Amino acid sequence: MRDVAIIGVGLTKFGELWDKSFRQLIAEAGSKAILDSGIGGKEIDAMYIGSMSSGRFIGQEHVGALVADASGFSHRHIPATRVEGACASGGLAVREGFLSIASGMNDIVVVGGIEKMNDVAGATATETLIMAADQEWEAFFGVTFPGLYAMIAMKHMRDYGTTKEQLAQVAVKNHANGALNPYAQYQREITLEQAINAAPVAYPLGLLDCSPVTDGAASIVLCAADKAKKYTDKPVKILGSGQASDTLALHARRDICTLDSTVYAAKMAYKQANMTPKDVDLAEVHDCFTIAEICAIEDLGFVKKGEGGGAIEKKITTLDGSLPVNTSGGLKSKGHPVGATGVAQMVEITQQLRGEAGKRQVKNANIGLAHNVGGSGATCVIHILEAV
Ligand code: COA
Repeated sequence: MRDVAIIGVGLTKFGELWDKSFRQLIAEAGSKAILDSGIGGKEIDAMYIGSMSSGRFIGQEHVGALVADASGFSHRHIPATRVEGACASGGLAVREGFLSIASGMNDIVVVGGIEKMNDVAGATATETLIMAADQEWEAFFGVTFPGLYAMIAMKHMRDYGTTKEQLAQVAVKNHANGALNPYAQYQREITLEQAINAAPVAYPLGLLDCSPVTDGAASIVLCAADKAKKYTDKPVKILGSGQASDTLALHARRDICTLDSTVYAAKMAYKQANMTPKDVDLAEVHDCFTIAEICAIEDLGFVKKGEGGGAIEKKITTLDGSLPVNTSGGLKSKGHPVGATGVAQMVEITQQLRGEAGKRQVKNANIGLAHNVGGSGATCVIHILEAV
């Protein structure tokens, strides 16, 4: 297998973007990444695009070809493939691009992720998102994603004594980070009292325990590592890539508080990178709900099972803690345009490892991890990156 590096990144602002179309968003993110990388359009061998449900959100399928067209590459007939794995669509697109270069098939690949979720009413967005859960066992009975993660939170509270206050502390931390990110949907801090007392959504989760409904796009340019220095003096190498699956329905898991897809994808990525969780300097984890961040830091091996809530309380994961988590603001505050999220996580880690994260820069960041989950954990994809 060949080594692969990230040589360019690009992001649109995340939020309710009424004034921009789907194709404008992906073209903006893609052109920023291409400009950042210094490659010429003629050098692109392939494109992979993560998008979860463009058919339901904007009435448009066939997104691979659309993105190549909107980016001005249709006349070059570049292979462009859409990748779907619910909220992990973006991370899976990164992995497909990575594998295509590692295999020797391609030298330079552009990966994009996009979702435009606000063109439909809130209830339609909720209905669309829950299609990523099990239709027969879950969605048919009316459960929503906040409902599924609320069940995980209830069991975590019962089994490990995790408190509503600890959940709220995840939101407070991620909003504090998002306040430093000019691309975030919510660039404002919140207090612990606001988070605890926010309007209930699905007990114990309130409004401020949830990621929002977001429009946005992200892009990265991948290159065979031995050719990367031609384009940039700051390549970021992908040391490990792991992916795993689990049951679609939550009730069929051995333990609903453990995302085994995370455990197995992490094992694969750590092994490939020849690393342990202790080697990681910072992580972007899939905090679609506050409880998801607590489960993630446990399942990734940063803390023992059941100690995630305590770790948040001890402020281990704040910007100046020993393991900063979700420095971008995470899905909670930066926003969660589902198909774009996994790519946006790679953008944040790359910027941190290059020392270009501005006010939210982590000191001495050399190794970063991106963790992207589909649904309630039926898919997980993890990448470990290193500043070269
Ligand atoms: N965090 C912080 N503020 C939020 C927010 C969130 N998650 N969601 C909405 N808001 C704010 C809005 O900006 C708005 O503020 P304003 O009145 O100052 O403009 C206000 O709350 C009401 O917004 P609205 O869009 O009417 O909220 P809603 O009740 O329709 O939706 C949720 C709130 C939590 C139900 C919705 O954000 C949601 O479904 N989130 C989960 C998304 C999801 O499941 N993703 C997939 C994960 S696997």
